[in-house]
Amino acid sequence: MECVTAPEPTGASVRLRPEIAALPPYRQGRPAPDDGYKLSSNENPHEPLPGVAEAVAATLPEINRYPDATALVLRERLAERFGVTPDEVLVGAGSVSLLAQFIAAAAGPGDEVIYSWRSFEAYPGLVTVAGATSVRVPNRPDHGHDLDAMAAAITDRTRVVIVCSPNNPTGMLVTAGEFEAFMARVPSDLLVLLDEAYIEFVRHEDSVDGRTLIGRYPNLVILRTFSKAYGLAGLRVGYAIGPEPILDAARATAIPLGVTAASTAAALASLEPAAEAELLDRVEVIARRREAVHTALLAQGWPVPGAHGNFIWLPTGEATTTVAERLFDAGLVTRAFPPEGIRISIGEPESVDTLLRILEELVPGSQERHPA
Ligand SMILES: Cc1ncc(COP(=O)(O)O)c(C=O)c1O
Repeated sequence: MECVTAPEPTGASVRLRPEIAALPPYRQGRPAPDDGYKLSSNENPHEPLPGVAEAVAATLPEINRYPDATALVLRERLAERFGVTPDEVLVGAGSVSLLAQFIAAAAGPGDEVIYSWRSFEAYPGLVTVAGATSVRVPNRPDHGHDLDAMAAAITDRTRVVIVCSPNNPTGMLVTAGEFEAFMARVPSDLLVLLDEAYIEFVRHEDSVDGRTLIGRYPNLVILRTFSKAYGLAGLRVGYAIGPEPILDAARATAIPLGVTAASTAAALASLEPAAEAELLDRVEVIARRREAVHTALLAQGWPVPGAHGNFIWLPTGEATTTVAERLFDAGLVTRAFPPEGIRISIGEPESVDTLLRILEELVPGSQERHPA
């Protein structure tokens, strides 16, 4: 197992697991100044639809009661949509809770969890909390998953492989062909989690789409969320689709009653045909805005990889902190991962002009090309 050195004593009066005491707490995107834009958490910039807000308000008179622990009505609704049984659907307090549940169900001390890196920043902590060991497989030079290397990293200690498409924060997707070739190399008793938090923003016809894979693999679970495309990040509701025995194991690891009546009401209201059509129109607006930003940044000379989520990855390397600070000073809060790059969510239209104006001045090598 990965050996984590215990931190210096902090005066804590109880014995803690050293690997947990050493874990950095989850770092949330900085809040935006009043006249600025928060582009640091891949949120949906649109306000809730009135019908969704009303559905949430309608749950208020019953907040003295516990919610339905299994979110049955929402599971039934999703089951119908995906052509599975309600027991093949698991609803959680955001897909990050579900990730924690599946990892805890399959991996413990001595076991390994493989994922690409850089990817979603929550993965390392969730693996450590489960007591398991992270095996990070570097992304390809084009910032996409190296699925060959991930398959080659599987050992008899591997219990979970996480595939994130589109990948947060680099934006690259896994194609259907790449994913199927990868699954052919994965033992059928090894759990594969396909994290599709941003799937609704994908416009690429070769992309993997978990929906088309349902029922084809006994070891595949698909994770999706209402946080991004459906704009419900604040209510915490996500779902998993997969084989019932794997979902049952994950159900056993859940903190009971994590999904509230307000969250399920909002999710159900968002799936109503008229509401969903409006929400997906908004997704289309964001996807187009992303394409426009991507094209403009390429034209400026930024080596941005393919962008398939509601965000863009700027490989700023050693200049990461400087560029992020310049954006912050202009009112744009982004997510910096020094010394690799900056993830910038596609937000309000007004934020785009500022973004492109500031970034044009900071294109690598532009000072040499245009001396002051
Ligand atoms: C790749 C990925 N997976 C899962 C999540 C979790 O989303 P939520 O817990 O809000 O459903 C996120 C959120 O940023 C993400 O980027």
